[in-house]
Amino acid sequence: MTLKYPSHWLERKGGPKISVITAYDYTFARLIDRSQIDAVLVGDSLGMMIQGKPSTLPVTVDEMVYHSSLVRRGTQKFMISDIPFGVIHASFEVACSAAVRLMKEAGADAVKIEGASEPCLNVIRHLTANGIPVMGHLGFLPQSIHTLGGYRIQGKSGPDALVAQSVQLEKAGAFAMVLELIADSTAAEITKKTSIPTIGIGSGNSTDGQVQVLHDVLGLDPDFRPKHAMRMRDIGSDLISACSEFHNSIQIK
Ligand code: KIV
Repeated sequence: MTLKYPSHWLERKGGPKISVITAYDYTFARLIDRSQIDAVLVGDSLGMMIQGKPSTLPVTVDEMVYHSSLVRRGTQKFMISDIPFGVIHASFEVACSAAVRLMKEAGADAVKIEGASEPCLNVIRHLTANGIPVMGHLGFLPQSIHTLGGYRIQGKSGPDALVAQSVQLEKAGAFAMVLELIADSTAAEITKKTSIPTIGIGSGNSTDGQVQVLHDVLGLDPDFRPKHAMRMRDIGSDLISACSEFHNSIQIK
């Protein structure tokens, strides 16, 4: 079943698992469009995957709008675009206007907001009450790497806070939520406690779906393979040998 609207996501709660993969440009989006993937996420992970930066923090709203519009040209699948770092921090108005730009200029079907602080929940309430679907994001929040102190599993010792946040996200109107690097048992509890789909990454198998970074699935980074990466191919090595084959093929003997 195509996931065209948030109501379709709700119907998949506890049903066939929802697959989400990141995309950042037209070429890859067009190929993903021909796959069985349910939805694409234009993640601010583009800071690392596309721009070669050390984190997602430098990514701007303009860049999110630009990459989302490229992806939109390549696929009609449900497209979620990240609200990048600094936007919720700036103000309620700045956050709402970023969401509107992603929908209006880039053709996003929904936006994703990291965290469940009061400012985040306020924005989520306002957007969802005004026709902009929002996906939540809990656990390891790449935009908060400085306060979280690096990539580590969240909710191991105190799952209650995360469970409470998940309930708040649902109440605020989120149609689904990403659970990133959350202890399997906590992710399972959140999945049970909430009636919106949970989309896990590095959070075990009991979530309602999984999201992966495209470059991890394709094996495009020869130097780094995160523990939670579900690598299905080694396209990076294929690309290197294809380029070398091309180089060698034009050498005149
Ligand atoms: O930016 C991103 O790619 C993400 C996923 C890792 C969920 O937020």
